Amino acid sequence: MSTIEKFNSHVMHTYGRLPIVLDKGSASNATDENGMEYIDFGSGIGTNSLGYCDEKWADAVCAQVRTIQHTSNYFYTKVQADYAERLCTVTGYESVFFCNSGAEANECAIKIARKYSSDKYGEGRGTIITLTNSFHGRTITTLSATGQDVFHKYFFPFTPGFIHTPANDTAALEKAVAEDKSVCAVMVEFIQGEGGVNRLDPDFARDVQRICEANDLVFIADEVQTGMGRTGTMLASEQYGVKPDVTTLAKGIAGGIPMGACLARGKCSDVLTAGTHGSTFGGNPIACAGAAAVLDRLTSDGFLEEVQQKGYYFSQKLLDMKGVSGITGMGLMIGVIPEKADPHDVLEKAAKKGLLILTAKEKIRLLPPLTISREQIDKGLKILSDILSEV
Ligand SMILES: Cc1ncc(COP(=O)(O)O)c(C=O)c1O
Repeated sequence: MSTIEKFNSHVMHTYGRLPIVLDKGSASNATDENGMEYIDFGSGIGTNSLGYCDEKWADAVCAQVRTIQHTSNYFYTKVQADYAERLCTVTGYESVFFCNSGAEANECAIKIARKYSSDKYGEGRGTIITLTNSFHGRTITTLSATGQDVFHKYFFPFTPGFIHTPANDTAALEKAVAEDKSVCAVMVEFIQGEGGVNRLDPDFARDVQRICEANDLVFIADEVQTGMGRTGTMLASEQYGVKPDVTTLAKGIAGGIPMGACLARGKCSDVLTAGTHGSTFGGNPIACAGAAAVLDRLTSDGFLEEVQQKGYYFSQKLLDMKGVSGITGMGLMIGVIPEKADPHDVLEKAAKKGLLILTAKEKIRLLPPLTISREQIDKGLKILSDILSEV
């Protein structure tokens, strides 16, 4: 039985997978079980931030596996303490809760917002406004938070207490807050990733902060996809000139080891108390060791500037490419608007030619490893250009 047949006989069919069995990888190259090589412009949906099997990252992870791989959170570990201190310092937050995924980080943020409100105002003030076309995860509550009807099917009853207003529409947000006294938080992505790589207007981001401050709401930023260097700064919020009360992270944070984090500051930093939240694996020593190795690289001299420059390099080349009508995004989170081509066709054709890409709605989405070389960018873009100019 082939790997794909075995897989399909036993693993639930929750994904539309490509018929490729990835076997190993190095830097921004993956190799399948037949030995075919691929340049990876997707990095496991923005997760292998240092590419495949980065030497220093692998050494740090392996050393941790051989030292202590797990303890319950009823004990302390130095690796979690050190990483928490560094993460809070570089992001400008006071406290962090570690979990294992983006959806879990958002669940934590939602709990903080509702508990902050309940501690201060009592019950009945637990509604969270999220944006139309957002994506916040696959748990029942984060599906409710997700502002897309397509996700609000089958799994009834969904968690109540979420309303959605359009992105970049300050008047709609102000109206919703004024009319609904149960609102306790506003949650946004600075760039809607799954929603199609759509950037939020800076003015709107500042309006969200202003409206939250004026109404004592919790401003939550879902930086699961945009955070940890992806857009060329540690957090995308830095480029928007805002400071949310709570920021969530996951994906690239630990370079491919499952980890999520919910950062909080000011009024939100001490909301969760003993017994109000928890996770068996959250802050696991192996994940923290991997995350520390990622942070070492992100904070090394000139690294984030280089991410910005590579983002610019991508954008110049893409804008000159036949078959491309525009691009969106920031840093190495790139949406490509094809003139005519269907993004899914492009994805399939690219894979056959040795390039792995992603799609998001009507766009081709690129989330290459932050460490990708110019040579690999050129090679990958040549494949993309060949495909787009065929159409
Ligand atoms: C912005 C955003 N939030 C949350 C999630 C959910 O993350 P996870 O799949 O790790 O639960 C995603 C995943 O794509 C995301 O892009």
